[in-house]
Amino acid sequence: MRVLIPAAELARRVAELAGRIDADYRLAGGDDGGRRGGRPRPQDDPLIAVGVLKGSVFFLADLLKRLRVPVAVDFLQTASYGAGGEHRGEVRIRKDLDLAIRGRDVLLVEDIVDTGFTVRTILDLLRHRGARSVRLCALLDKTAARQVEVPIDYRGFAIENVFVVGYGLDHDERYRNLPYIAVWQAEGEPPATPTAPSPPTPERSISGMQFHHTDQAPAAIGPYSQAVSVDGWLYTSGQVGLDPATGELVAGGFEAQARRALENLRQVLASAGCGFSDVVKATVYVVDLADFPRLNALYGEAMGEHRPARSTVQAAALPRGALVEIDLVARLRPGAG
Ligand code: IMP
Repeated sequence: MRVLIPAAELARRVAELAGRIDADYRLAGGDDGGRRGGRPRPQDDPLIAVGVLKGSVFFLADLLKRLRVPVAVDFLQTASYGAGGEHRGEVRIRKDLDLAIRGRDVLLVEDIVDTGFTVRTILDLLRHRGARSVRLCALLDKTAARQVEVPIDYRGFAIENVFVVGYGLDHDERYRNLPYIAVWQAEGEPPATPTAPSPPTPERSISGMQFHHTDQAPAAIGPYSQAVSVDGWLYTSGQVGLDPATGELVAGGFEAQARRALENLRQVLASAGCGFSDVVKATVYVVDLADFPRLNALYGEAMGEHRPARSTVQAAALPRGALVEIDLVARLRPGAG
């Protein structure tokens, strides 16, 4: 069997996910002593983490050990009927929850989302029972196998469309206790190969980064990406006033270039599910600081009421003879990136 995700990589990613979940639920639930205006989350009203038996138990245990928000734990188990034919996609509840979830924040923790039928059914059920909020945390995402749309709020790794075992996942009840994720291979068979083309969504590399690309902004023409997200943050490359359609600087001087650079950034942010209101830091490079007031006006228009931190530098020269270049750091929204 081929190791796909080593134990250390699982541990690192689980810690990252726990950090994001902690941050989101502390802000949403107000476990911040009310400093951000949230309602304090009482100890007797904790988040309810729901694990799907049996595959998610290893992941759930490691994840919960790292959470600091108060959390209650419950489990449910499903049975799937008919991979094809009449009952295709039919999922039934074999073991139900013990806890009542009406009015509560629920985090569904799943080992893997494959076709999506299982989590789709569970998410619908949890909402139907009146949970205050329902989010999904899935360790593995086989995007190429998806048959029904499922929003994954916290995703560990996107993987190829291969059958995997270990870290809770089984083949015929074997291999759950492997400390890593491996590609399952029947004895005597050649290694499994992906059965579907790579998904168009950004690939998460094993180091936990996503590399973003949109056709609505100029393509990266060197060894870099338009943007990279990691640990809940998005870092954009610098954008100048290039027209994505022609790859040329737009005509019209400084103002036209600044407008285009900002529009390019807006598109790059959008490709990662963000907007200007998520920006925490901007760096602006101008060839002539005399253009600063004009830049400020356009930049202010783009940011609206939002006021991220900013540095401005006069540069002797910029790529392609541009007059202005801007790069950004933004906070990803939950589930984005
Ligand atoms: P779905 O309903 O097709 O998304 O399937 C979800 C369930 O199928 C998971 O909870 C797993 O129990 C099982 N499953 C899907 N792919 C794999 C795999 O590669 N290895 C082990 N179990 C899998």
